[in-house]
Amino acid sequence: MMHATLRQLRAFEAVARLLSFSRAAEELRISQPAVSKQIRLLQEQVGLPLLEQLGKKVFLTEAGRELYATCADWLGTWGRFEQTIANLKGLKQGRLKVAAVTTTKYFMPRILGPFCARYPGIDIALEVVNRDRLLDRLAGNRDDLYVMGVPPEGMETESEPFMDNPLIVLAPATHPLVGRERIPFAELARETFLVREQGSGTRMTMERVFQERETPLQIKMELGSNEAIKQAVAGGLGLALLSRSTLSSDPDQRELAELDVEGFPILRAWYLVRPKGKQLSVVAATFLEFLREHVQLLVRGQ
Ligand code: PGA
Repeated sequence: MMHATLRQLRAFEAVARLLSFSRAAEELRISQPAVSKQIRLLQEQVGLPLLEQLGKKVFLTEAGRELYATCADWLGTWGRFEQTIANLKGLKQGRLKVAAVTTTKYFMPRILGPFCARYPGIDIALEVVNRDRLLDRLAGNRDDLYVMGVPPEGMETESEPFMDNPLIVLAPATHPLVGRERIPFAELARETFLVREQGSGTRMTMERVFQERETPLQIKMELGSNEAIKQAVAGGLGLALLSRSTLSSDPDQRELAELDVEGFPILRAWYLVRPKGKQLSVVAATFLEFLREHVQLLVRGQ
């Protein structure tokens, strides 16, 4: 049985890949005689020459080529193992700070639940605030990751869309426009609307939608929560533009209806945002991976 050590294999792999003892020594940060010694010991174990040196050139023998192929597999597997261990160590005392806009409360807990179950050692702080307050937190680098519907403009950030976020027109189920197809947007000008507070991303998007279509927006009432708006719409106080995510807790609501208005739903996305160049902690990177994986399931309703 051969007794090759990881050190010997690393030295051999580096020399075989770089075809140079001196460059291998540099890469491994050990002396050149130390590299030669590891390879001599390995050759003794294998019982055949692994390398040939002609002048300054290094060549692999047939046994060397076989070993090199084996080493590449082996060191790759070992590298992944080391990574897993590093992650596990990092995750043990991990703390994840996520700030998310108000409307994400309909799905963020459904993502965090399975995440916490898979990584019980992670301690999560989820801050739920409206868009303006979230931008203040982002500017102050207070959290690891941020979730919002409209990525910030004029701020150095990296944004990654991860899930659909359609904006819909909601009416009470008894409204005369319910059931009509392709309602022209201009007809909405006759309606009164219930809106979120200033600083909300939904409010900002809604105002933009009316401005872009040069349609006046008649505001009936301002309410500080999506749930309050849904109740007010159901109560016949007016219509609303909200993210379809707000219906996900109860998709069959009988008192509310989605209107078929031209140009709607407005297709948007939920974004994961972080300051540009921010080095993600192991925990944050793990969450990002989990989100990418898990959202597919969420979208399919599993
Ligand atoms: P909001 O944000 O919850 O502050 O309205 C929603 C969004 O960013 O789309």
